[in-house]
Amino acid sequence: MTDILARLRALQAHDVPVTGGRTLAYVYDSGLEEADEVGRAAVAAFAGTNGLDPTAFPSLLAMENELVGRAADLLDAPDTAVGTVTSGGTESVLLAVQGARDARPDIERPRMVLPVTAHAAFHKAAHYFGVEPVMVGVGEDHRARPRAMAAAIDDRTVLVVASAPSYAHGVVDPVEQIAAAAAARGVRCHVDACIGGWVLPYAARLGRPVRPWTFAVEGVTSISVDLHKYAYAPKGTSILLHRTPELRRPQFFASASWPGYTMLNTTLQSTKSGGPLAGAWTVVNTIGDEGYQRLAEKVFRGVDQLVAGITSIEHLAIDEPPDSTLVTFSTDETCDVFTITDTMLRAGWWVQPQLSHEGGAPTIHLSLSAATADHVQEFLDALREAVAAAVAAGPVQIDADVVDFVTALDPEALTDEDFDGLLAAVGMTGGDGVGLPESMAEINTLLDLAPPALREALLTAFLDRLLRPVRSPQP
Ligand SMILES: Cc1ncc(COP(=O)(O)O)c(C=O)c1O
Repeated sequence: MTDILARLRALQAHDVPVTGGRTLAYVYDSGLEEADEVGRAAVAAFAGTNGLDPTAFPSLLAMENELVGRAADLLDAPDTAVGTVTSGGTESVLLAVQGARDARPDIERPRMVLPVTAHAAFHKAAHYFGVEPVMVGVGEDHRARPRAMAAAIDDRTVLVVASAPSYAHGVVDPVEQIAAAAAARGVRCHVDACIGGWVLPYAARLGRPVRPWTFAVEGVTSISVDLHKYAYAPKGTSILLHRTPELRRPQFFASASWPGYTMLNTTLQSTKSGGPLAGAWTVVNTIGDEGYQRLAEKVFRGVDQLVAGITSIEHLAIDEPPDSTLVTFSTDETCDVFTITDTMLRAGWWVQPQLSHEGGAPTIHLSLSAATADHVQEFLDALREAVAAAVAAGPVQIDADVVDFVTALDPEALTDEDFDGLLAAVGMTGGDGVGLPESMAEINTLLDLAPPALREALLTAFLDRLLRPVRSPQP
């Protein structure tokens, strides 16, 4: 037993830290030890419960209804609003799209109108549910253009989407105009507030300028908000809210067409652990409304300090001031983004590179947590050094043959041999199979040269190589 736990800890030693505020993507850290502890205890206590049947586990039903009520209060929802706790932002988005599609069985080839900045989860939903994405370009400020969005709505449109804020640039779309255009055509409008939904309402209370995006905006029919982001809950919970029960109904699935129990599901999962739900309920009640307000105050102090600090560093630029807690910056051509991200990692800071998109330069994304706010100066010092190192190192050098090989690849026809050859060329294969190299700058530079379809094919092939079973040795 002790031995197994020691092995578990040894495995975890290679992960990025989930507390301490030095991981600026994937994790959201309140810095409140007590909230983390009770949240983890609740996950453990409810790990074996099953949300499949709320009559067998009424505790889960009670916690879900309370959390949805709390979200409804926060997001200015009318009394008619209902919601569902899901496993995460992607599941909430998938269900918003599925519900919109199934509410319109009369439309044979449904479409949804998306700003190009909408989260990739919508592309996954498009892929899973056969809803064609109609992509609409955004303005120079990276916000959706409402007139262009309105013009893209047609008789086949089942859903129009806006973000509050978008992940890649951290800005809130003009939801009022977009929702009005959708409502005028009788189409649903989903606001993806997965990452901003639990923090923007507090930003508004603090007097920061936040354009309207909640249910207070007429025409908004559903909103997704993740608890495992800025509610600082353990991973595994998001909420999908609908303005009325009627709007939610197509999301539910029932099947009595077999000899077992009638399957009755609110989400994509059927059997689902009550652990994440209990963890979220516990954290939300431990932190409380005033606690979230204090955390918001702290995180936005950090955002302002970070924005001012980055702006003052030569070679770096913030295209558009962030509306929320996500800060994105670019570099000039003397300073390589991917060298910076590698250098920051070596200095103990996980920052996320974003590859170039539609002619834009690659950028660096920072999701700020309350726990990072106390360390912004330290972060800026490390960043200044990383920038100096990147300028000194110059452009990332890659063998011209490898560049030619990659750029000539056809994603549709990528073979295992092509990919294995490429892995060997970039030094990513060894005795133990596929591994990550010391430096990611070369790999990211190569991916950046590749068009999106090729990036997808290359990374999918890489994932395939990573996910191989560990078998017992044969006798
Ligand atoms: C705006 C937005 N939508 C959806 C998602 C997907 O959420 P998840 O990773 O929890 O599935 C994210 C994740 O960062 C997000 O920022």
